[in-house]
Amino acid sequence: MYHEGVGGIVELAAGYLSAAYDSVRKAGGLCIADEVQSGFARTGSNLWGFESHGVQPDIGNSSLLGIGNGIPLGAVVTTTEIAKVLTRRSYFNTFGGNAVCTAAGLAVLKVIEKEKLQENAFVVGSHLKERHKALKDKYEVIGDVRGQGFMLGVELVTDRELKTPAKEETLHVMDQMKGKVSILIG
Ligand SMILES: Cc1ncc(COP(=O)(O)O)c(C=O)c1O
Repeated sequence: MYHEGVGGIVELAAGYLSAAYDSVRKAGGLCIADEVQSGFARTGSNLWGFESHGVQPDIGNSSLLGIGNGIPLGAVVTTTEIAKVLTRRSYFNTFGGNAVCTAAGLAVLKVIEKEKLQENAFVVGSHLKERHKALKDKYEVIGDVRGQGFMLGVELVTDRELKTPAKEETLHVMDQMKGKVSILIG
């Protein structure tokens, strides 16, 4: 069972994830939380996305997007029981345990804590969401505003009822945003 972000920002209904975890476990499966996008304080309310759903995954992961802040680093966190299975087979990987990357990972954790980035994601993300919701009242093209913290999605539509994707408008907004980013960088 994954929760991530590539498929769009979908806010899960209360109780959905715990019910899904129950079904998976009853069928003998393991629950995996893909926290590559939703982890490391991005949602603002918790360090991990799954925490706001009252579930405990069997396996969780993060990668360069969160844990490494761009440095190639990934992590899989699991129970001792599951981790022990790897010792029974000849598991290896070429880049595991790279000292430079793991130092970067530690630095990321320190910065998240020291600069209160979880609180920042909550405060700034909530503001961003409120402002986008206000824009939704004004502009028909904004069909929905969803998410938590910096894990936010703004859905652009040509028809709110039918939820028809506003492809041209989305491309236009993306181009405008790219322009603004290059001004910030340049
Ligand atoms: C939700 C999610 N899972 C997994 C991945 C893969 O991450 P990586 O290529 O760093 O292993 C990505 C990459 O964007 C992602 O967004």
